[in-house]
Amino acid sequence: MAFDYNLEKQHAKGKLHAIERINLLCDKDSFMEIYADAQHQCTSFGMDKKTIPYDGVITGFGKVNGKKVAVYAQDFTVQGGSLGKVHGQKIAELIAKAIECRCPVIGLNDSGGARIQEGVDALCGYGEIFRQNVRASGVIPQISVIAGPCAGGAVYSPGLTDFIFTVDKISEMYITGPKVVKQVMFMDITSEDLGGAAIHSQKSGVAHYRCPTEAECIEKVRKLLDYIPHYYGDKTPFEPKEKKALFGKKVDFKYTEKKSAELNSVLPEASTKGYDIREVINRVVDDDSFFESTEEFAGNAVVGFAKIEGKTVGVVANNPGNLGGILNCDASDKIARHVRYCDAYDIPLLTFVDVPGFVPGPQEEQKGIIRHGAKILYAYAEASVPKVTVITRKAYGGAYIAMCSKHLGADFVYAWPKAEIAVMGAEGAIGILYAKELKDPNNAQLVQEKGQEYRATFMTPTIAAQRDYISAVIEPQETRARILSSFELLENKSVSDKPLKKHGNIPL
Ligand code: HXC
Repeated sequence: MAFDYNLEKQHAKGKLHAIERINLLCDKDSFMEIYADAQHQCTSFGMDKKTIPYDGVITGFGKVNGKKVAVYAQDFTVQGGSLGKVHGQKIAELIAKAIECRCPVIGLNDSGGARIQEGVDALCGYGEIFRQNVRASGVIPQISVIAGPCAGGAVYSPGLTDFIFTVDKISEMYITGPKVVKQVMFMDITSEDLGGAAIHSQKSGVAHYRCPTEAECIEKVRKLLDYIPHYYGDKTPFEPKEKKALFGKKVDFKYTEKKSAELNSVLPEASTKGYDIREVINRVVDDDSFFESTEEFAGNAVVGFAKIEGKTVGVVANNPGNLGGILNCDASDKIARHVRYCDAYDIPLLTFVDVPGFVPGPQEEQKGIIRHGAKILYAYAEASVPKVTVITRKAYGGAYIAMCSKHLGADFVYAWPKAEIAVMGAEGAIGILYAKELKDPNNAQLVQEKGQEYRATFMTPTIAAQRDYISAVIEPQETRARILSSFELLENKSVSDKPLKKHGNIPL
C-alpha cells in the first residue's frame, strides 16, 4: 500500500521523517518494507474510526555498505509514533526475522511511548520487543538511534541493545518526562537537561555516540557497521585485503612507518605527568581507523574499534590524560561492557595499560567500586578471543591484574622499557613500609634511600619479565609489528577448557 508521508509535519519539528532516515541509512533503493498493511485492533477512545498507516512504524530489510540489515523506524507524525500491540509485534517479529537471517537490527526510535488508548495491549507490545532484544543479544548486533522522544518503558528496548546513538537537541530518553518529574518531585527541568543527548553521553553513560545532526548520526551508524561482524560467526571484518608475512618487516598497510618512530617520544619525561593514550593508539593502528565509542563518558578509560592491517580489533585503554587513568566505577563499567561485546562477536582485544590503580576512598567505595571493578576482572577472564596487552607505563596493584594481565588470560603481554609493574607507587609503598621512621625527621636520608631502592627494584618491567608475566620488553616503536604478529599467531585460537555451565554470574 502506498502512503502519503507527512514530511512537513515532521520537518516542522526540525526532524527528518522516518522514511528519510531509512533512505539515508540504507544503500540506494535497497530497502524492502514488510508488514506495511498491519493495523491496530483497538476500539476504545475513538480508535475504531482511526486508521494508522503501518501502525506508526516502518519495518523492513535493506543493505548498508552492501550487507543486509533489518531496520525499523517509528513515524512520529502517525499518532506520535506511539507503540500499540501491533506496532510492538511488528518490531518484535522483525528482530526475530533478523536473528534467522543473521543480520544486524537498527532501530530508529521516535515515539511518545505506550499508545495510551491501547492500555495493557501496548505494554505487552514492549514485553515482546524486550524478549526478542534479549534473544538477539550476542547473535546479531542491535543498534538504537534515538531520533526523538523515547519515554517511559520505551527506553528499555534501546537500553537492551548494543549501541545507542543520540543527536543534539533531538534525542530525549527518560523513564518519566519533565511533567511527571514536576508532579512527583516538584522540580522544573527541561527534556534536554533530564535526558538529552549530552546527559546520556557524558553523565549516565547510556549513550555511546552523540552527533550534531541526524545525517551525521546515520553516517556514523553506517561507519560502525563497517567495523563490526554482522552476526556471531561472521568473519568478514577480519579478512585483511592484503596479507603480510609473519614477523615481516613491512607493516605499512594504510600506515606510515614514521608513526612507529614517534611512539618513542610519546611518554612524558616525568612518570607523574599525564598524556592522552590516543596518541599511542593512533600510532599503532591503521591510519585514521580508531573509531572511539562512549568517548565523553568516563574519559579515564578509552574504548573503541580500530583496524590493524584492515582487520577489526577491539581497543581498551587507560587514559593517563584524564584522572591519571585511574579506574573508577564508571570506567570499570565502560571497559567491561566493551570487552564483553568484543568477546561475544569474536573481535580480538588489544589493551593498553597505564593505570595507577583503583580509586581509593569512601565516594567510590559507596558507589560499589568492588562490584564495578569486578566486572572488568570477570569480562577479561571470561573472554576467549585473542588478547594482546601493551603496558606503556604504570601497572599497579589490582588494576595491573584487571587490565588484561597474563594472569587473567592475556595471550601476549608486552611492556615498554619505562613500565612500572608493582603493588603501588614508591611514595605510597614507603609511607606504609616506613611509617614509623617517617615520623622522625632525622630519618629523611634513610627514607629517601629506601625510596630509591624501591624505584630501582619495582619501577621497572624487569621482575615481571623474569617471572615470565610479560612476553617481552619492547621498544615503543616495535609495538605495531609485535601486535600484528601476535594477532596473526592467534588467528585460530580456540579455548576448550570451559567447565560445563548454563551461564556465569557477572557482578551486575
Ligand atoms: C497515544 C500519543 C502518545 C501516546 C503522543 N501521542 N504520545 N498518542 N499515546 N503515548 C499523540 C498526541 O496525542 C498527538 O496526537 C501526537 O501524538 C503528537 O504528540 P504531541 O504531544 O502533540 O507532540 P509533542 O508536543 O512533540 O510532545 C511529544 C511528547 C508528548 C513529549 C512525547 O506527546 C508526550 O509527553 N507523550 C506521552 C509520553 C508518555 O508519557 N508516554 C507513556 C510512557 S509510559 P495528535 O492527534 O494531536 O496529532 C510507557 C510505558 C511502557 O511507555 C512500559 C513498557 C514496559
